[in-house]
Amino acid sequence: MTHPVALPPAWSVEPAQVRRLMHDLRRMMLSYKFGIDEVMTKISILRDEFRHIHDYNPIEHAGSRLKSFESILAKAQRKNIPLTLAGIRGEMFDVAGVRVTCSFVSDIYRVRDMLVAQNDLTVVEERDYIAHPKANGYKSLHLIVRIPVYLSDRVEDVIVEIQLRTIAMDFWASLEHKIYYKYGQAVPRHLTDSLKLAADVAWSLDSSMERIHDEVKAIAVDPDLVVHNDTRLRPEEMLEAFMRTVDVTDAAYQPFGGK
Ligand code: GTP
Ligand code: MG
Repeated sequence: MTHPVALPPAWSVEPAQVRRLMHDLRRMMLSYKFGIDEVMTKISILRDEFRHIHDYNPIEHAGSRLKSFESILAKAQRKNIPLTLAGIRGEMFDVAGVRVTCSFVSDIYRVRDMLVAQNDLTVVEERDYIAHPKANGYKSLHLIVRIPVYLSDRVEDVIVEIQLRTIAMDFWASLEHKIYYKYGQAVPRHLTDSLKLAADVAWSLDSSMERIHDEVKAIAVDPDLVVHNDTRLRPEEMLEAFMRTVDVTDAAYQPFGGK
């Protein structure tokens, strides 16, 4: 059986109209990509600065994705969002997505606070699925932020969805996503029950790791156990030490053929 497809007759769409729409869409997607770039730069600065100044890294991994046009279309249909630039901009908040995986739960809020404190970033919405997990066990902190992107002739405010989670939360979410994808809406009951249980176990792991981390942090450093850096070499000593490791009989190391 063939299904009627509700497409407008081809002659009712002006080629110029289609070209303009495609041009506008490409521009819009480009600005979302720039929005991702801006957020990723912020994350990478925080990560590098933390590593250098605090000798500690609260960010395990950061990734991003631009929603495909197929997914935009599907979501617009699912959520009754007008498939126009204004509709997408005003009602679809996950075209640009950034996901940050943190070491500990406290790091999630720490990174959140550092981002939110930045003047050019505005929080449009915050959903705390850590304090209020979803019924299936899903946990993460979601921020919908607005960020200005400086283009050649204008400044455009772009919406970016930032998901912050721990490694355990991420592990759980990716497995749940795979299962959901495989079964659609009809995930067997024993699997949803097992997933909920796994989410509880993941949370218990996160809590234990955080406690251990806190305990180690709280230990006062015993000065007798500190290895003093007195063995640091002066540059000429460093060079001498390096030369000792090199086989000077090797012709390659003999300046001007060893003459
Ligand atoms: P979407 O239409 O899916 O974007 O939902 P929403 O606009 O109501 O927002 P929500 O905060 O529920 O989810 C946004 C995103 O978080 C999703 O696109 C997923 O990436 C992630 N997410 C939310 N809930 C779940 C879940 O139960 N399992 C997994 N694996 N991911 C989830
Ligand atoms: Mg989404």
